Amino acid sequence: SEVLRVGVAGLGTVGAETVRLLRLRREDLARRAGRPIELVAVSARDRSKDRGVDLAGVAWEDDAVALARRDDVDLVCELIGGSEGPARTLVETALSAGKSVVTANKALLAHHGTALAKTAEAGGVTLAYEAAVAGGIPIIRALRQGLVANSIGRVYGILNGTCNYILSAMRDTGRAFDDVLAEAQELGYAEADPSFDVDGIDAAHKLSLLAALVFGREVDFDGVHIEGIRPISPLDIAYAEEFGFRIKLLGIAEEAPEGVRQRVHPCMVRKDAPIAQVEGVFNAVVAEGDAVGTTLFLGRGAGAGPTASAVIGDIVDVAAGRRAPVFGIAAAELRAARPAPMEAL
Ligand code: NAP
Ligand code: HSE
Repeated sequence: SEVLRVGVAGLGTVGAETVRLLRLRREDLARRAGRPIELVAVSARDRSKDRGVDLAGVAWEDDAVALARRDDVDLVCELIGGSEGPARTLVETALSAGKSVVTANKALLAHHGTALAKTAEAGGVTLAYEAAVAGGIPIIRALRQGLVANSIGRVYGILNGTCNYILSAMRDTGRAFDDVLAEAQELGYAEADPSFDVDGIDAAHKLSLLAALVFGREVDFDGVHIEGIRPISPLDIAYAEEFGFRIKLLGIAEEAPEGVRQRVHPCMVRKDAPIAQVEGVFNAVVAEGDAVGTTLFLGRGAGAGPTASAVIGDIVDVAAGRRAPVFGIAAAELRAARPAPMEAL
């Protein structure tokens, strides 16, 4: 049957692993998708860099946006990052040209998600972003499809692997913040600008996407109250331990009578709570539904393997023709954002 021809923009931590896994699992993915999936073109900044993957026979574009214009590319995979610049132009160009897009870019979607969803749905194509929230945990599918019978009053969790890695290491080993952050960067967990991680912005990007999905409202990143982990000292962590608590950076979105309250900040969590046991690069998402009750999703929230795993899940969905509205209901029907005033924290 007809081949799905893929173009991948960005060959860094996530892009290179996506290419490697597409190759490694090629036959099984084709069986599961019901058609072959072929990597036909790639783009990154530096053509001479060794990516550790075989790109023989794959076309190279110096300009990422050119991928969206190629006649031999059916699906664009955006793994560059950033809410503006080439990532935004590439995604807009691809969707407008009637090509589906798979992206891991939560910054882009937090700022432009509603508009991009409208473009995708108007063109009858998919905009898939499983990798953008909680790394390898298939939380978008779970909330959009699996829990569709529920009214979800609250969704919260550990949404940034880098911060959780830092807080865990500071507690376990007493190592300095900067030292552990440098390690998280080396492991490929951190954003290109790691202040997005430690200042809570990345978790807020993800929270705004979860909130849109769960509450059926337009993405409202500006409505998120944000505090990061820079002010947390080893002494804070030690005192919290002594009183039976762990410090976790949580993202919390809940429906209030006045609208939706979204906040990201360090929280004292009782040591015996399941979410307190989530350590290192792991993320966890709790969704409270009226029918299902409380559900907890756990898995690695960052890094090459977990993120590429989510990207490829989306590619196979597109290949198989499985489609769902970007934020669960048609983008044109999302209610306007309505931030609720922050309660005393
Ligand atoms: P990365 O390692 O910094 O890779 C970025 C890639 O984009 C590089 O290959 C870079 O090229 C390429 N690039 C930059 N500007 C470009 C341009 N103008 N045209 C074409 N290519 C360009 O980043 P990453 O960690 O893989 O993250 C990629 C995306 O995934 C981001 O949106 C990030 O937020 C998201 N994400 C990352 C993780 C993670 O754990 N790392 C998890 C979830 C989501 P060169 O290699 O030539 O410099
Ligand atoms: N920098 C992000 C994190 C990558 O540490 O969680 C995954 O989105």
